[in-house]
Amino acid sequence: MAKLGSIGRRACSGLVRKKNETMSLIITTTIGVAVGFLIGISFPTLNPTKLRFPSSNISCIEDRNTGLMLLNHALTSRNHNGNNSKDFNDTLKIYVPTKPRGVERLPPGIIVSESDFYLRRLWGNPDEDLTIKQKYLVAFTVGYDQKKMIDAAVKKFSENFTILLFHYDGRTSEWDEFEWSKRAIHVSARKQTKWWYAKRFLHPDIVAPYDYIFIWDEDLGVEHFNAEEYIKLVKKHGLEISQPGLLQNTGFITWQMARRREDSEVHKETEERPGQCPDPHLPPCAAFVEIMAPVFSRDAWRCVWHMIQNDLVHGWGIDFALRKCLEPAHEKIGVVDSQWIVHQVVPSLGNQGQAANGKPPWQGVRERCRKEWWMFQKRMADAEIAYCKAMGIPPPNMIAFRQ
Ligand SMILES: *[C@@H]1O[C@H](CO)[C@@H](O)[C@H](O)[C@H]1NC(C)=O
Ligand SMILES: *[C@@H]1O[C@H](CO)[C@@H](O)[C@H](O)[C@H]1NC(C)=O
Ligand SMILES: *[C@@H]1O[C@H](CO)[C@@H](O)[C@H](O)[C@H]1NC(C)=O
Ligand SMILES: *[C@@H]1O[C@H](CO)[C@@H](O)[C@H](O)[C@H]1NC(C)=O
Repeated sequence: MAKLGSIGRRACSGLVRKKNETMSLIITTTIGVAVGFLIGISFPTLNPTKLRFPSSNISCIEDRNTGLMLLNHALTSRNHNGNNSKDFNDTLKIYVPTKPRGVERLPPGIIVSESDFYLRRLWGNPDEDLTIKQKYLVAFTVGYDQKKMIDAAVKKFSENFTILLFHYDGRTSEWDEFEWSKRAIHVSARKQTKWWYAKRFLHPDIVAPYDYIFIWDEDLGVEHFNAEEYIKLVKKHGLEISQPGLLQNTGFITWQMARRREDSEVHKETEERPGQCPDPHLPPCAAFVEIMAPVFSRDAWRCVWHMIQNDLVHGWGIDFALRKCLEPAHEKIGVVDSQWIVHQVVPSLGNQGQAANGKPPWQGVRERCRKEWWMFQKRMADAEIAYCKAMGIPPPNMIAFRQ
């Protein structure tokens, strides 16, 4: 309270200063806000008092399947027989102060920490700008060559969706041949990947008004898909991270989990080849969707956005780690079978690599994907080990990486 008072006084005293000082106060504040916003984005502050472990036998264990150490899982298993569920929930959370850092000079009432993609007009009353506040967002990463597929896909999303196109080929105005293009947001940056755009343009505070966020590839056949129906099912089955079931029309092999089933609305687990899933509640048999057509709830996206690494642009490995954002993950991640899509497997961005040493462009891209996958796994494991050590929990004695 005392702190609030002094902030309030400082903000108010600025108003009666001489003009010059007021100006410099405004400038400092503006810079403060910008810096604070950036810091807030990059370093959510840990509040050590909230990060306490109940004194019991938690240990960090290794995930036999992925080689990732599984802090969440250790906590979950304990949850089943233990009595401290509330404590366990607390330990899984990292708290961010409600007032962003860097805006201490501003009175709380003026702070707007969230935004949206709603298009406004340049005249009239701001209150009356919006005829509809869309509750859902769909973002496609596109090249103009795939315009037919994207046109068909966008038409499956009602007026309740904000449409966002990330253009990796620099062609944006051509899309105006489609009526819907005028209400879409177009972001253009050459030869970047879906996760590169998502990290930069879908910050959780920017997409805060949207209940669900679709982050989709461009080569998906949507004939049997309806977005409003899809959302009804996702709500009904409590899915925080999901994807539509996938029908493969090429020889390209996918995980069983993503495959569309004909006999169900939704599935949350599956069976793989023998030996693939020592734990049926872990990927690739559960708690897992592929990254070509994921759908996130607002809360799930807030977590996943923070997990996306700035430099690892292909997103490989994130699919296996999504479950770290949810608890219990095998109940909140699933595949919607009755609204399904077809993966067309069109070579697109992969062809925008660079030919080198006699190798075709796509090969360099593929190698980078694999490298990133390994780097992501290592970073996750290192972070969890460091966290365990900091919390005084015995770290695992062996971590093996699957290449
Ligand atoms: C911790 O584990 C040890 C050995 O596994 C067991 O003897 C002990 O009772 C456990 N303590 C608690 C609090 O569960
Ligand atoms: C949980 O703890 C309460 C008291 O704290 C106890 O009465 C209850 O039996 C415990 N439940 C289990 C499942 O151990
Ligand atoms: C843990 O928190 C989640 C949501 O934050 C809630 O749905 C769940 O019921 C909680 N679990 C327990 C055991 O309190
Ligand atoms: C859009 O959302 C509103 C409110 O939820 C709903 O009544 C309407 O049916 C939705 N539009 C479509 C095309 O489903």
